[in-house]
Amino acid sequence: MLYPRHIAIIMDGNGRWARARGLPRIAGHKIGMEALHRIVHHASQMGLEWLTVFAFSSENWSRPESEVNHLMGLLKLFIKRDLLDLRDNNVRVRVIGNREEVPADIQSLLDEAETITQKNDGLNLVVAFNYGGRAEIVRSVKKIAKSLANGTINIDEIDEAVFSKYLDTAEMPDPDLIIRTSGEQRLSNFLLWQSAYSEFYFAPCYWPDFDERQLDIAVEDYWLRERRFGRIPDYKKEKLL
Ligand code: IPE
Ligand code: IPE
Ligand code: MG
Repeated sequence: MLYPRHIAIIMDGNGRWARARGLPRIAGHKIGMEALHRIVHHASQMGLEWLTVFAFSSENWSRPESEVNHLMGLLKLFIKRDLLDLRDNNVRVRVIGNREEVPADIQSLLDEAETITQKNDGLNLVVAFNYGGRAEIVRSVKKIAKSLANGTINIDEIDEAVFSKYLDTAEMPDPDLIIRTSGEQRLSNFLLWQSAYSEFYFAPCYWPDFDERQLDIAVEDYWLRERRFGRIPDYKKEKLL
């Protein structure tokens, strides 16, 4: 049976959850935050090592200003409300994405969340905020170009392992399982490099309805997957020619 070390979740469908109830989109985001709180606890209790959640994409800035402001406010609320609880539950918070572009007060809250929990060695909760896979790759290329220019590395040293070290996810294993809620079946610019061999699970429910049981079902589904990484499993038992 396969156990995932790293699960990444595209928390999608807050707006449709609200619309289905005749509520404003922001009501969906608020209840979505409660779902996140529950899932983090559950992941921590199941002994998962890494949980990455897609909270705000580099493309989400193109939503109406009022929704963007509300999402920024909710992130602040989540950190202020849950940070001590996360610290006391041995959760280590890390943030990926372009932090330079986010408002200064959010930057300092994100820094604080990382600092306060940095000694924890339980679940690693990675918040992808102002994150886009393509932007991350471009930022890495720029960092590599700088290292080449100042002589820290030489061109022949660059391989996949070295490239990975320049990404925001440098210290993290690749996601074993990527879950997306709301029935949509696409990556939406999430972990493009890192998802090369990830398994996918698409949950039909909207994110605010995703609960502990749903996470268990996704993990149970993963148990039965066969990951080949391009190889042929049990080839010794098969006729090759
Ligand atoms: C996910 O829910 C939350 C974010 C992208 C911040 P959506 O807001 O995308 O909800 P839908 O997809 O419109 O229903
Ligand atoms: C992806 O969802 C981003 C997050 C969940 C934060 P979107 O709702 O932004 O993705 P698209 O636009 O439907 O592809
Ligand atoms: Mg969406």
